[in-house]
Amino acid sequence: MTNLSDFISKLPKAELHLHLEGTLEPEMMLEKAKKNGIKLPYKSIEDARNAYRFKDLQSFLDLYYLGVSSLVDEQDFFDLAYAYFKKAASQNVRRAEVFFDPQAHTRRGVDFGTVIKGIHRAAVKAEDDFGISAGIIMSFLRDMPVSSAEETLEQALQYRSWIMGVGLDSKELGNPPSKFENVFKRASDEGFIAVAHAGEEAPAEYVWEAIKFLKVARIDHGYHMFEDQSLVIYVVHNRIPVTMCPLASVAVEYFKDIKDVPVKKAIDLGIIVSINSDDPAYFGGYINENYEAVAEALNLTFSEIKQITKNSFLSSFWSDKEKEKYIANVDKI
Ligand code: ADE
Ligand code: ZN
Repeated sequence: MTNLSDFISKLPKAELHLHLEGTLEPEMMLEKAKKNGIKLPYKSIEDARNAYRFKDLQSFLDLYYLGVSSLVDEQDFFDLAYAYFKKAASQNVRRAEVFFDPQAHTRRGVDFGTVIKGIHRAAVKAEDDFGISAGIIMSFLRDMPVSSAEETLEQALQYRSWIMGVGLDSKELGNPPSKFENVFKRASDEGFIAVAHAGEEAPAEYVWEAIKFLKVARIDHGYHMFEDQSLVIYVVHNRIPVTMCPLASVAVEYFKDIKDVPVKKAIDLGIIVSINSDDPAYFGGYINENYEAVAEALNLTFSEIKQITKNSFLSSFWSDKEKEKYIANVDKI
């Protein structure tokens, strides 16, 4: 182990941008597909991994939604989430605020309750077994009709105490945040915290919309915000955290090279930026691999790396007491 990877693995971290369905490794995908009698176009684990070459967000989403079709019963969702929490804890993630996509399951006939019961049970057991704290965020698929998001919110109310927030993901271009203003307002009235993928593949205007119409407490990706100086100033002054996902952003070709991912730029501008893994089963690395890739490519100092892990706790929706405790722990490393 190099000095750098040793240092990164020792640091306590919060992961704030992680899709549970994006942690479905080919091994589990093929095993579940076999058990559930689902046909997938992969002959082997290697065959699946070889198919994971993307040219844009949509080409990734196509395989992601294909993969989730292998998950059917509550135990499948438990196994998926528990495996992620176990892996994350092994990389010193102490707090994970994770997304799931209810509509990716309900639209193919799987009950909302089946999905959330499995995930919730995994979160409770993982906290017991590994001491990792979890927060669950349900994301609306922005390329589905608003009426479907509204139905999903209704279904979630029965499990209100298990779900911390609402998010917005899937195909961004052509599906601006303003489309979801009313359903986010209703979610806020019910006490859900709001986040949204914005400026991932769409222009800075989408980030403005997420702030103004959805009143987001955090921006996911946000790469295109640098096109608009006044937006950057707004994000800095209002201390709106931004979750970046380096390996993902290169895998779907937003950036040619990991050194182009604007993590250092964000730090230098005073943005509360964190590093996260997004869909690690598809993009070649969990959180520590993302930290390592960026730290190496951008020549980050140990103090900058520490700042990012402190940012991750600061950006989380954990209690102030826990945040302060872990930020102090980072300083002890
Ligand atoms: N769903 C899973 N990962 C996603 C991403 N990075 N962007 C949009 N939707 C997603
Ligand atoms: Zn994402």
